[in-house]
This record gives sequence, C-alpha cells and structure tokens, in this order.
Amino acid sequence: MKILVVGGGGREHAIVWKLSQSPRVSRIYCAPGNGGIASMAECIEIEATDLDGITVFAREKEIDLTVVAPDDPLAMGMVDKLEANGLRAFGPRKAAARLESSKVYAKEFMKKYGIPTAEYQAFESYEDALSYLKQADFPVVVKADGLALGKGVIIASSREEAENALREMLLEGRFGDAGKRILIEEFITGPEVSILAFTDGRTAIPMVSSQDHKRVYDGDKGPNTGGMGAFSPSPFYTADIAKYVEKNIIEPTIRGMGEEGSPFKGVLYFGLMLTSDGPKVLEYNARFGDPETQAVLPRLKSDLLEIMEAVIDERLDQMQIDWDDRAAACVVLASGGYPGSYDKGIPIEIGEVTDCLLFHAGTAQGLHGLVTNGGRVLGVTALGKDLEQCIRKVYGSINRIYFKGMHYRRDIGRIKEREQ
Ligand code: AMP
Ligand code: GLY
Repeated sequence: MKILVVGGGGREHAIVWKLSQSPRVSRIYCAPGNGGIASMAECIEIEATDLDGITVFAREKEIDLTVVAPDDPLAMGMVDKLEANGLRAFGPRKAAARLESSKVYAKEFMKKYGIPTAEYQAFESYEDALSYLKQADFPVVVKADGLALGKGVIIASSREEAENALREMLLEGRFGDAGKRILIEEFITGPEVSILAFTDGRTAIPMVSSQDHKRVYDGDKGPNTGGMGAFSPSPFYTADIAKYVEKNIIEPTIRGMGEEGSPFKGVLYFGLMLTSDGPKVLEYNARFGDPETQAVLPRLKSDLLEIMEAVIDERLDQMQIDWDDRAAACVVLASGGYPGSYDKGIPIEIGEVTDCLLFHAGTAQGLHGLVTNGGRVLGVTALGKDLEQCIRKVYGSINRIYFKGMHYRRDIGRIKEREQ
C-alpha cells in the first residue's frame, strides 16, 4: 500500500516510523515532512494546509491511504475533500473536527451531553464579557474560540489580567477570527492527563495514558509551548479513574457526536484534569497529540495501519490492540529563543544515540548535513521498565546531541506527587 502522511513534526515522524513497520506498507510519502522523516519516507514540498495540492498529489500517485495529522488541515476539511475525490483518508471530517477548532462548540456539546467540564460563559461582546467579570472569582481562564497555536488560553489571576486578555482578543484582534468569540472559564486544579483514543464513530478504544509538559522551563515555569516533553503512562490514571472516564466522558462523547450527525472518526484526544470533584475535560483535540504521540506510539505493539483501516471501515469493535507494558518518555530539544523568535539553519551534531528513538521535528537536510528548521527541533524517546529508567536513557543520549542555543527541560517525567 502507498501511504501519504500530512504534516512535518515529531508526531508525524512517529506516525511514519510506526507505519513503516507494517508489512502491507510498500511506500510512504510525507508532506512536507522534515530532515528525519526523509530517511524513511519520500518528503514532498506541499504544505500541510494545501488542500488542493494534497488532493491532486494523492490522486496522481494513487495513494491508498492519506493520514491527516495536524489540526489546521482537519479544521479546513481536508478529509472531506479527499473523500469527495474518492480517496481514503484517516482523520475526522470538518464537522467533527469542530470539537477542537471551536472551543465554544466543544463546551456547548459537553453541556448538552452532560460531560464533566469546567463551568463557562461564551462572549462575543467586550462589554458583556467585562460586566460578567464584575462578579467573577479569580483566577479565571480566558480562551479564544478558535485555533491559536496553543497560545489562546490565558490564566488570569486578577481582574486586570482578565480585562487585558479580553481587550486583546475581542477589541484588538490578537488571534484574528479565532479570538472573535471567547470563553471565560472557571479555574480548576489537579493533575493533567492526556487520553488519546482511536474511534470509528461507534466504538472507541483508548490508548495508554500520557502527560505532556507545556511550559518551557523546569518546574512548569515560563510561557506555554507546543510541548517540551511527554511520558506514558500517567501514574495518576488508575484503573478506577480509567473506568470512570470511559463511562462518563469517552462513551458519551462518541455517542453525542453520532447524535449530532457528525460521528468522529480518527484519533480523539481528551485533555483531562483530575479534580477533587472527579475527572473533567479541559479540551478535545481532533488528532494525535504532539509530543504525546512520541511517547505513546513506541508502546503500541499492534499494527497501526490495521487499526487505521478498522477506523475507516467502522469495524474497530473487532480489533484487539496490544500495548507494551514498559514506560516511555520523550524530551524535546528546542532552538535557542523558543517559544519566542529563534534562528534556523544551525548545524546539528548527533553522536552515538543508543537505545533511544530520535523523532525529528524542526530539522532539514542542509548542504552539509542536518540543520535546525523550527522551534522544536528533536524529540528523544526511550522505553524502560519504569519512568526512572526511561529518563536516565533519554538524558544520557541528549548528552551526545548538540546544536548552538539548544535548550530542553531537565525534569520531564519528574512529576510532583500531587499537584496543588
Ligand atoms: P487547553 O488548550 O484548553 O487545554 O488549555 C491549555 C492549558 O491551560 C491546559 O493544559 C491547562 O493547564 C490550562 N487550563 C485550561 N483550562 C483550564 C481551566 N478551566 N482551569 C485551569 N487550567 C486550565
Ligand atoms: N500536546 C498537546 C497538543 O498536541 O495539542
């Protein structure tokens, strides 16, 4: 089979790596890919958001399956377009991807189907939002409705900060159309867990649990990033909690989307907070998480292609999915300056990396070898009998990787006993 993977980050490298192990895969293309993916797939110069370009390429090359991994093309309807052209695609259609592309839609959906989440109010008018703040307790969480590269969530500890966020989003257009509607949410606390699930619109099979580290510096300090590392499993996600989440969150979500007439097919990501009041949904993502995927897929023993096909053909109920009992951790190496501005084209030196997987994100093949080409550059993943062993292996390998300005967190997987 000929496969096309859309995207070019660490998540896509992990997906390409896993799919390349499937005996039925004969050839993999990746658009646009990166310097590491190029060693196991043919990278093509088409942007992940180029719906026409991807569709034309898939038709010309007679691609058997296109895997759409990033949020933007899913929100733009790439899967709908591929299907309309008679092509097979993995990922939710545009209407189902709204669970991620509109936070207001996701909240209204959760309210309608009784899915536990933080209390909220939605606003389009600055004046209305401002007057709501008058009776609010702080902190509150202000969120832009649409996709904002993970930057559209502001935790405002005072009225002044909240008012600033409202002004930036609703009056100054900081996030463009994505910030024309906003949510003001109740601030909730507890450990965060990411649960990714395969779903064919009727059946959902959760993957092993994971957790990502969003802040740039150790101890969860500094600004939010796309994710500085992840580990799996989460020690907080016990069997009892898993059972509760399946019954009260995952199943009602899948059923509800069916009732809405937009069944969700693909990978649905549940960003959960385990509060003293029980698990609540912080957000949905309509796709594999990044960098959670780099910690979760190495633990998948089953054939990813078989699972993806079962999702598309709606026979996930007949699938058995097996996982490696070992733990996994992934540490992201970032460019100097990230998540602010950074230089590209810096040479990367990689010595002997043993017993680790190297997932490339912002890398490119330069004239004289590998160079940096983005903010998050590389993800180093190790499997181990426990988290401690993974962490030792990963940081041991990182000592053999260097590029000027490189920085990374030293505390990935070292979670506090109980947050708060
Ligand atoms: P989101 O993109 O909606 O997941 O938000 C990004 C991050 O903001 C989450 O991972 C949480 O750490 C934090 N967050 C979001 N919503 C809330 C909330 N209602 N209460 C507390 N923290 C939140
Ligand atoms: N790691 C969070 C995300 O993929 O959005």
